Amino acid sequence: MGVAPCWRWLLALGLRLLFLVPAGVPVRSGDAGFSKAMDNVTVRQGESAILSSGVDNRVTRVAWLNRSIILYTSNDKWSIDPRVVLLTNTKTQYSIEIQSVNIYDEGAYTCSVQTDNHPKTSHVNLIVQVPPKIRNISSDLTVNEGSTVTLRCLASGRPDPTVTWKHYNEKSRGFVGDDEYLEITGITRDQSGLYECSAANEVSTPDVRRLRITVNYPPFISDARNTGASVGQKGILRCSALAVPLAEFQWYKEDARLSNGLGGVRIENKDHMSFLTFFNVSEKDYGNYTCVASNKLGNSNASVILYGPGAAHNTSSSTSAALAIICLLFSILYTLSKF
Ligand SMILES: *[C@@H]1O[C@H](CO)[C@@H](O)[C@H](O)[C@H]1NC(C)=O
Ligand SMILES: *[C@@H]1O[C@H](CO)[C@@H](O)[C@H](O)[C@H]1NC(C)=O
Ligand SMILES: *[C@@H]1O[C@H](CO)[C@@H](O)[C@H](O)[C@H]1NC(C)=O
Ligand SMILES: *[C@@H]1O[C@H](CO)[C@@H](O)[C@H](O)[C@H]1NC(C)=O
Ligand SMILES: *[C@@H]1O[C@H](CO)[C@@H](O)[C@H](O)[C@H]1NC(C)=O
Ligand SMILES: *[C@@H]1O[C@H](CO)[C@@H](O)[C@H](O)[C@H]1NC(C)=O
Ligand SMILES: *[C@@H]1O[C@H](CO)[C@@H](O)[C@H](O)[C@H]1NC(C)=O
Repeated sequence: MGVAPCWRWLLALGLRLLFLVPAGVPVRSGDAGFSKAMDNVTVRQGESAILSSGVDNRVTRVAWLNRSIILYTSNDKWSIDPRVVLLTNTKTQYSIEIQSVNIYDEGAYTCSVQTDNHPKTSHVNLIVQVPPKIRNISSDLTVNEGSTVTLRCLASGRPDPTVTWKHYNEKSRGFVGDDEYLEITGITRDQSGLYECSAANEVSTPDVRRLRITVNYPPFISDARNTGASVGQKGILRCSALAVPLAEFQWYKEDARLSNGLGGVRIENKDHMSFLTFFNVSEKDYGNYTCVASNKLGNSNASVILYGPGAAHNTSSSTSAALAIICLLFSILYTLSKF
């Protein structure tokens, strides 16, 4: 050890003893020569923190310490950290700046002041804030109806962010959970859609990310209606099925499977619908057809009748049409009676 470093080391030790021995002595705020430093300094990660202390002309020595390590004393820099710089050293104020603050800088900083040979200390608590950030979120997933899924949304930030989950689809939108893990037991088709995770703390705007859950379910035939068509005309039978993945359709007449393009029919599938088209209806086409919708989870079927003009006038539908006209007349009469 050379002479100069040794001297510095002794001085450092001396300063440390000077400043640390009376640390147990309570600091009385409002003491002459030393105005109480601020309690909490809150800064965002990456920004600069200013540690400032008021002094007066009776002050003979002054220093800022990080825990027990001296950063600066008067104009001398002790810290080897280039982010620590002296800001002001005047008759009334002594302040240093910590640039580009990180979370390791958080903690207690001490200002030591010697006035009339009485050392005094005051403490500043540096609080480092970090905006919320979602570090790890589950990816999109596809599951079968009835299974249990656990979604993950791991977030960091200071203070610890609060995590909330929202669910969006055609039927629902809204809050579904407030934990980093969202468990859905026995998932239903209505629970498919977008899941939005939001991580929020008071530091900045929330971090928001989304994922999509696809719920597979077997086909359910939602529409298959009997249809009338005259001989020589075009006739179309429709069948639609809700299913994920989309259903594949087959058409049967009695036990015989119909093929596209054979016997003057065309089978056309579009999204969740299937169309069986007769280009030129003949007597032999009338009858009972079965539409079968299937996907990897199962199948479902429905019968559809292609009927001729003789059967087209359905008594019950003409009865309901008559009823509708009577109702309309009554409602008109009722409305008029109110005037
Ligand atoms: C300083 O921050 C702490 C939390 O870190 C808080 O409990 C305390 O009340 C704060 N003090 C002041 C004076 O704001
Ligand atoms: C303060 O001390 C902590 C712990 O030793 C260290 O990680 C941090 O870098 C220091 N910060 C400054 C500005 O000296
Ligand atoms: C996210 O977290 C899960 C479970 O803790 C882990 O298996 C996975 O490797 C993490 N992914 C990333 C990108 O860190
Ligand atoms: C429909 O079929 C009938 C009998 O097979 C035939 O006479 C008629 O020309 C056909 N019409 C059309 C438009 O193909
Ligand atoms: C059509 O056929 C199915 C079975 O293939 C049967 O259950 C249904 O009753 C039949 N419909 C009519 C109107 O005959
Ligand atoms: C239609 O569904 C019934 C059971 O719901 C089944 O017994 C029948 O075999 C099915 N028909 C066809 C053509 O798949
Ligand atoms: C006639 O109406 C009844 C009841 O509304 C229905 O079940 C039946 O399928 C209809 N018949 C035809 C040929 O549309």
